[in-house]
Amino acid sequence: MTTRRLTDRLGGLAFGGDYNPEQWDEEVWKQDDELMRRAGVNLATVGVFSWALLEPEEGRYDFAWLDAHLDRLHANGVSVDLATPTASPPPWFTLAHPDALPVGPDGTRLTHGSRDTYCLAAPAYRDAARRVASALAQRYGDHPALALWHVHNEYVTLCWCDHTAAAFRVWLQARHGSLDVLNEAWGTAFWSQRYTSWEQVLPPRATQWHQNPGQALDFRRFWSDETLAAYREQRDVIRTASDRPVTTNLMLPGYQNLDLWAFGREVDVVSIDHYPTGPGLDAAADTAFGADRARSFAGGAPWLLMEQGTSTVYAGDRVLGKEPGEILRHSLGHIARGSEGALFFQWRQSRAGAETWHSAMVPHAGPDSRTFREVTETGAAVARLGELAGSTVRAEVAVLHDSDAWWALDVDGLPSAELDYHAALRRAHRTLWDAGVTVDLAHPEQELGRYRLVVAPALFLLSDAGAANLRGYVEDGGTLLVQHAAGYVDDRLHARLGGYPAAALREALGIRVEEYRPLGRDERIVLSDSSHAAAWSESLRVEGAEALASYTHGLLAGSPALTRHRFGAGHGWYVSARLDDADQAGLVTRLLDAAGVQPELPGLPPAVEAVTRHAEDGRRWHVVMNHGAEPARLPEPLQDLLTDGPVSELPPGGCAVLRAR
Ligand code: GAL
Repeated sequence: MTTRRLTDRLGGLAFGGDYNPEQWDEEVWKQDDELMRRAGVNLATVGVFSWALLEPEEGRYDFAWLDAHLDRLHANGVSVDLATPTASPPPWFTLAHPDALPVGPDGTRLTHGSRDTYCLAAPAYRDAARRVASALAQRYGDHPALALWHVHNEYVTLCWCDHTAAAFRVWLQARHGSLDVLNEAWGTAFWSQRYTSWEQVLPPRATQWHQNPGQALDFRRFWSDETLAAYREQRDVIRTASDRPVTTNLMLPGYQNLDLWAFGREVDVVSIDHYPTGPGLDAAADTAFGADRARSFAGGAPWLLMEQGTSTVYAGDRVLGKEPGEILRHSLGHIARGSEGALFFQWRQSRAGAETWHSAMVPHAGPDSRTFREVTETGAAVARLGELAGSTVRAEVAVLHDSDAWWALDVDGLPSAELDYHAALRRAHRTLWDAGVTVDLAHPEQELGRYRLVVAPALFLLSDAGAANLRGYVEDGGTLLVQHAAGYVDDRLHARLGGYPAAALREALGIRVEEYRPLGRDERIVLSDSSHAAAWSESLRVEGAEALASYTHGLLAGSPALTRHRFGAGHGWYVSARLDDADQAGLVTRLLDAAGVQPELPGLPPAVEAVTRHAEDGRRWHVVMNHGAEPARLPEPLQDLLTDGPVSELPPGGCAVLRAR
């Protein structure tokens, strides 16, 4: 387990954050050393945006300043997560290589002055990135402070330039083999789009009206693969000079430019950045969602929270200070779900520059502040949790998540703007989180047999392999809930003919959808079991399933809306409209009962979250967080690692990490 190499080196879980000392002077560095000791910092991410200092002109490196910081941190007992600086090329680079600046779909070329301003497909950028990564690896590959490599920072930029076009064509040739196959896949027989030479094929740039959906989907896949190739190049040059684990910090849940399942397979340690944008219970649910994703991309292995804020980044139109206790609760929320620590962006709040008003561990006010006191308390808490290192989380429920399915709902010309992949995924997770159940995210084509219940939101695109996998899951005894508009298209975005969803899934669900009837933005309907729904409705026939509720009005009156089908040893459920929150919660409770799934710690009040980490040797810890305003009694008094005493009740906002018996 690669995270073991990290936690063994740190002597426990990680605590710290991005450290950008180049913004400060020696006086402040001395204070940093002292404050880091006070806060229990044992890991600092260094060098994320240091390219201009490290390589002040092409090919000339200046390592002296970084040597000094690494040595200082090491002497102070702080290990280093060393970043390659490639997320922010310096001005000299963009002047020398203007063709490496990114171009938007409308042809506008960006220029330097911010960060993330590069085209990943531009050869000059890729060469420069590999060279600076290699120089760092040669210099610091076995530095005693080095615990982890941090390639790049949040691969986020997209580009539609001519370099991208050339790379896209190479990718398309590998995927489709011939233009005939590409023409068939993209349905170019329509609208006179047939390609007769590869040079005619472009990235999906700004067009008059709907873009070709196959082209748009393939571009997303291509860009993800191109990004992964850029990551691998840096990782591989690092590996030639260093045996420390390598990661890249994956992005916030709302960005979906990358297939994070694929990234999860290529990094030594999955790490994520996570910034809830709302307050209170929503932030706690958001934290759980980000953490469950990270664990799932890691294949269930422990992972690392690389960045969070000591306040929100934005809540609507402003930043919002975290409520007292939330810095600890959010940190524990990640640790509960498998993170091997809690890191922040950034250590010291900037005095100048683009992120002056972004929160930090040491705020502008200095250490005599609520924020720093809470950071210090959190550091002390994390330091007490070393025995959790290497333990994992077990989920009995999975929510299906697929990048192709997400991208499929981003193309033009869909039947309704209400088909929102991210919102549907979040909602499915939130309903289960509210029910106190821990969930994994799972890919539709992966082995699902270990899950008692699988929920499939927004699977508009479902491959043949995915449909067959879901049928097999139900047949072998699983309980599957498929939500509306599922399996309408295959992995080329070709519509399923003869009725939706894909044939294999129709068998498992015992239904056939004949017609889709999206609802108006403000339209709400009532089903025969009194539940309310919006956004979508379908005319469907049961083909073996039993109708549990039907539509009551209009053309669909009497047509089934909610169905259940006994198939093999399992059950396939289908809901053909978007149920309102309370009704969706009711349906999920019914399914959890049917599948025999219990909350992690039964009997806790609603706003109390509990997740269990399991060690291989049978030891277990319940991480319990009271997000509510009332004291919460625990089922039995247990020893709390945070206070080193027995705990039977949590005050409002309180947390405990309980050694299970
Ligand atoms: C992250 C990024 C950091 C910092 C932070 C602010 O996405 O990696 O460098 O900008 O956002 O919230």
